[in-house]
Formats: sequence, structure tokens, C-alpha cells
Amino acid sequence: MELRLKERLGRKFDEEIRFFKGWMDGPKSVGAICPTSSITAKRMASVINPASGLPVLELGPGTGVITKAILERGVAPDNLVSIEYSTDFYQNLVKAYPGVHFVNGDAFDLDKTLGDKSGVIFDSVISAIPLLSFPMERRIALLESALDRMPAGRPFMQITYGPISPVIAKPDRYKIKHYDFVVRNIPPAQLWVYTRG
Ligand SMILES: C[S@@+](CC[C@H](N)C(=O)[O-])C[C@H]1O[C@@H](n2cnc3c(N)ncnc32)[C@H](O)[C@@H]1O
Repeated sequence: MELRLKERLGRKFDEEIRFFKGWMDGPKSVGAICPTSSITAKRMASVINPASGLPVLELGPGTGVITKAILERGVAPDNLVSIEYSTDFYQNLVKAYPGVHFVNGDAFDLDKTLGDKSGVIFDSVISAIPLLSFPMERRIALLESALDRMPAGRPFMQITYGPISPVIAKPDRYKIKHYDFVVRNIPPAQLWVYTRG
């Protein structure tokens, strides 16, 4: 077998083991049974406008599949802020993606977790937070806190596995759009986009 293919398969296996370990430690906070597929990650990152020059905010990077897709979309590592709650995932991400601003903290408390970046305006937010594991009021608060940090019309992209939007409709506060259903993901993934203005 070609050496590069062997390396790639080895890395993928490492990611899956790491993911499984994270899942064993906290199934509710990981919220999925497998890492996101690269196809899903690309679809999620496709809403980013790298030409805006604004930084991107990623929530719940896990093993970094979506982080990789965001960088491949043309976002410079220095222009990506990514918040991961699990210290184990965080430590691996820091090694795997040098230059990205990883924060080991809670995405539900953006003011505190973003620290000196709490006033930053982001181009978009790409989230793999397992929202269904949290009460609805907290999901809405997280979404609104993220939308407060983006120009009007820019997207908060969320992956989920249920058939309906993980955040209830509030038409006077934000708009909800079903973006995609990706079959090539385990389990198949639903992508939702939330915008304001
Ligand atoms: C579904 S997994 C992400 C999967 C990731 N796309 C991958 O392929 O590895 C959800 C991630 O969100 C993280 N997470 C859960 N709650 C969080 C929180 N409150 N703040 C930040 N990250 C959180 C978990 O630790 C986990 O890494």
C-alpha cells in the first residue's frame, strides 16, 4: 500500500479512536457516534465568505474535521477562533492545526470564553455543538449570542441529526433555513442556517 495512503488511513483511525474515547467520557457532550464526514464538513464551510476578511468562529471542533474544511475554504489559521470544551480534544487540535486560536472553554458562555476577542465581529459561525443535549432556552441564548457577533445576514451554520431545527422558530428574532441533508455522514446529517436581518 502506498505510504501516503497508509498515513492517511492511520490518521483517520487515530481520529476515530479519539472520538470514541471522547464519546465514552461524555456521550451527551459529544452528541454523535462518529466524526463528521469530510463531505458534511465541506458543505458547512461553504457558507463562509473568506473575502470578507472577518474571522470565523467554530464551536465544538472535536477531532478537527470541520476545522480542516474551514481552513481549506481559504480562511487563514490566524483568522479562525475555535472553542472546544473537552481538554483532550483541545490538546490534540492545538498540535494538529498550528496558528488557529483554539480556546478550551464553554461555547454557551461566549463573553467569558472569547475573553479579549469577545467584541470581535465574525464573518460566520460554524457549529457542531450537540444542541439537542441542552435545554431549549440555552440553545436560543447561544444562537442569539453568536448572531450578536456577526453582520446582519451572515450565517450561523449548525449540524444536527434530528428531523427538525434544533432551535425553535422566533421569526421576529432570527430566520431559519434548512440548508442540506447529507446522507454520506454517520448518522446522516441535517444542516440548518440561522440569520438575522
Ligand atoms: C458532535 S461532536 C463534534 C464532531 C466534530 N465535528 C468531529 O468530527 O470530530 C461535538 C463537539 O462539541 C464539543 N462540545 C460539547 N459541548 C460543548 C460546549 N459547551 N462548548 C464547546 N464545545 C462543546 C464536544 O466536546 C465535541 O467535541
